[in-house]
Amino acid sequence: MTTSALRVSVIGTGYLGATHAAAMAELGFEVIGVDVDPAKVELLASGRVPFHEPGLPELLQTHLATGRLTFTTDLAAAVAASDIHFVCVGTPQQSGSTAANLDYVEAAVSGIARAMTHDGLVVGKSTVPVGTGERLRVLLDALVPDGVDAELVWNPEFLREGRAVEDTLHPDRIVIGGASENAERMLRSLYAAPVAAGTPVIACDLPTAELVKVSANAFLATKISFINAIAELCEVAGADVTVLADALGHDARIGRRFLGAGIGFGGGCLPKDIRALTHRAGELGAPRIASLLRRVDEINMAQRERVVELAIAACDGSVLDARIAVLGAAFKPDTDDVRDSPALSVAAALHLRGAQVSVYDPAASETGRRTFPTLAFAASLDDAVRNADVVLVLTEWPEFTTASPAALAMLVRGRTVIDGRNCLDADAWRAAGWTVHALGRATPAETRSAVFA
Ligand code: UDX
Repeated sequence: MTTSALRVSVIGTGYLGATHAAAMAELGFEVIGVDVDPAKVELLASGRVPFHEPGLPELLQTHLATGRLTFTTDLAAAVAASDIHFVCVGTPQQSGSTAANLDYVEAAVSGIARAMTHDGLVVGKSTVPVGTGERLRVLLDALVPDGVDAELVWNPEFLREGRAVEDTLHPDRIVIGGASENAERMLRSLYAAPVAAGTPVIACDLPTAELVKVSANAFLATKISFINAIAELCEVAGADVTVLADALGHDARIGRRFLGAGIGFGGGCLPKDIRALTHRAGELGAPRIASLLRRVDEINMAQRERVVELAIAACDGSVLDARIAVLGAAFKPDTDDVRDSPALSVAAALHLRGAQVSVYDPAASETGRRTFPTLAFAASLDDAVRNADVVLVLTEWPEFTTASPAALAMLVRGRTVIDGRNCLDADAWRAAGWTVHALGRATPAETRSAVFA
């Protein structure tokens, strides 16, 4: 097989697959994106992206126009027309367990295997429990037609939502697990542009490649829970966790990123990946990482409770009938993803305690409404905060961090803001008459009482 004319199929066109497909077309390859959902395929084929991801619609439209990128529901046709088949389907948390659900990955690999008409490479990108690749190799060997040579390797994806295009075109590393010489050559030629730009390639065995991905997410989650645990200490000691994190971050061994204290992590990856890793480590008899990550998870979930407690305290002990504005529904800015969103968890918890909650998000109102249909979503920031007793900032969208505290002060009933992301200019808000509560940053009055108690 010559590498210059490599043709690519991408199975699964969610955040990962749609971005990967468009990025491979950008790198110059013929790409066919495949999904079982005809509505999604139709949307993508018409140049529209079914979720909010900056830069992706433009890249998609560019390569629909060049003709290098097409979409189909016909897996067999896509596989027959391609040489490298990327598995980009989801591995959500199983219902009733913390383990990953591998049904979609197994279905994708079986489907590819049965449809192969010529030699090819199956490349897993989905996040899977260690050991999955080995099992999938057995499946592939059993199902691939006689005379066809198929190889399965793992090439985990590290993209962040909101930065998916940039992360895919300019990854900070490329991990290739379990590849023969020929397979590694094919992947190196596919990724020739980022490799030429300096992206390091780590070639390793299959289990190491599978573990790199979940270990990276586990480390990031641990970093966030570490700073949130320190934030608790800062509050009782009268210290400021944001200044402390800045100071820690200057140590190159530590780094400032992922030391943002606040309401904690959410989304479709970090929570489910640390739970799946905990589960898998337990199965394999590696209890230390399992118990560490259980604490990381508990600390993270406790941050949501902490914000609920702050809101209750701000309403003098009960939120019943209180009007609460929740700014943010997405699990982080620049996405409309509300999977395991800390902001929505807090909004729902306050709603269940009898508060009149009004949620506003610049991009995630629609996805938020679908997830929590009983919550009220406002059409604008002003509408959300109008007559509010307390304002909660739970996703650090620029629209909130740059909003005028003086203008918002004119709209509310009570000038109390809870900064769940440590993203506001607290001094500017105080100057506009607001009482500001933030996680890990005592208010000046609280600091005095903590220190002089
Ligand atoms: C993550 C990984 O970063 C990415 O490499 C992997 O491929 C998928 O999972 P993503 O889920 O898009 O990406 O979000 P990320 O930017 O990592 O943020 C995760 C969560 O942590 C968000 O809820 C974010 O608000 C929170 N976070 C992040 C903090 O609470 N504090 C921080 O300092 C950083």
